[in-house]
Amino acid sequence: MKTGAITNFAEIAAREDEFQLATYKKMKLAAAQGRGAWIETSEGERFLDLYGGHAVAATGHCHPHVVAAIKEQAEQLLFYSNLVYSGVRARAAERLVECAPASITKAFFCNSGTEANENAMRLARMRTGREGIITFTGGFHGRTADAISATFLGKYRELGRPNVPGHLCAEFGSVESVEKLADEAVAALLLEPIQSMAGVRMAAPEFYRCLRELCDARGMLLIFDEVQTGVGRTGEWFFAGSEAAGGVVPDVITLAKALGSGIPVGACLTTDEVAGAIKENDLGTTFGGGMLAMAAVCATLEAIEQDGMLENAREIERRLRERLADVPQVAAVRGRGLLLGVEFKDEIAAQVNKALLERRVITGTSSDARVLRLLPPLCVTREEIDLFVESLRNIL
Ligand SMILES: Cc1ncc(COP(=O)(O)O)c(C=O)c1O
Repeated sequence: MKTGAITNFAEIAAREDEFQLATYKKMKLAAAQGRGAWIETSEGERFLDLYGGHAVAATGHCHPHVVAAIKEQAEQLLFYSNLVYSGVRARAAERLVECAPASITKAFFCNSGTEANENAMRLARMRTGREGIITFTGGFHGRTADAISATFLGKYRELGRPNVPGHLCAEFGSVESVEKLADEAVAALLLEPIQSMAGVRMAAPEFYRCLRELCDARGMLLIFDEVQTGVGRTGEWFFAGSEAAGGVVPDVITLAKALGSGIPVGACLTTDEVAGAIKENDLGTTFGGGMLAMAAVCATLEAIEQDGMLENAREIERRLRERLADVPQVAAVRGRGLLLGVEFKDEIAAQVNKALLERRVITGTSSDARVLRLLPPLCVTREEIDLFVESLRNIL
């Protein structure tokens, strides 16, 4: 038997392992349902999800407004490409641009974070007529050819060999290292303004300001990869333009993950100035801007706004920082809003992550063995966060 609903965990795991390429180390559970910050397994066990399905479930699992919008759109029209106009696409682009800093005026829709970054680099090359791209140690930008060549975190770049030429690597946080590389062949600087997978690493606002000045002085574009930090994750719509960014607004912002609450969708947001360099057919993708994805984008932005999730993200961050302040094993809490890294004094993040999972709390690790990553839904409650803190204290 090859089809039909399977509900028993052992059978689900055996079948998936047999028929799916083994490219992921999986948790020993099968997710069957989700509501808010909780998922329920095939066996009816409930897990508190502070990882949000990889930072995707920003509005929580199955937010009723998002589910209703997807259902309604599915009954009207699932898809038509950009060869026709669409009311829901018009609304998604307008709303997204309204949420962004003032100089950001245009959206290009695609399907994932890696695709958004590929297109952002292409925009920069078209705008400047140059080919080089500077990215940073510890940054992650995706797994397609150009994006993986821009990824200097761990082993990823090697996996993408042969790499796309013209990629250069500067030291995250060091303006001097960028200055040395930034010659007239460089089209853009691309960075995760908060490096999530590297262990939630942030720089001082001055760093982002210096990058902006350097880009302006040397004719390069500045691209923020906000695939993780965007769409409310930091307690603001975008890291771009925030106080933590020193008020800096890049020329291009890339988005994905939370943007469709789980329906695959990515986007590049950019300025009139950059858009002026782009002609018909320069960029494209069949599925980008499809109606179902656009309905998910509109509903995601509405849910975040209507439920006050930006304020909630900031409040939960404050509470978590307070509650972890006197835990002796915790050295620091890194990050912003609900992209947080709990830094331990020792390299115990993987053990803590495992022990939390045994207590039915899902968290993430990072490439820094001291840092446990939290990317919960932006609607996570104080009680849910307190439950995490209690579990953590018990484990430690
Ligand atoms: C910062 C960042 N950029 C890009 C990507 C790639 O996004 P996707 O997996 O949607 O292609 C990721 C994925 O984890 C990411 O974290």
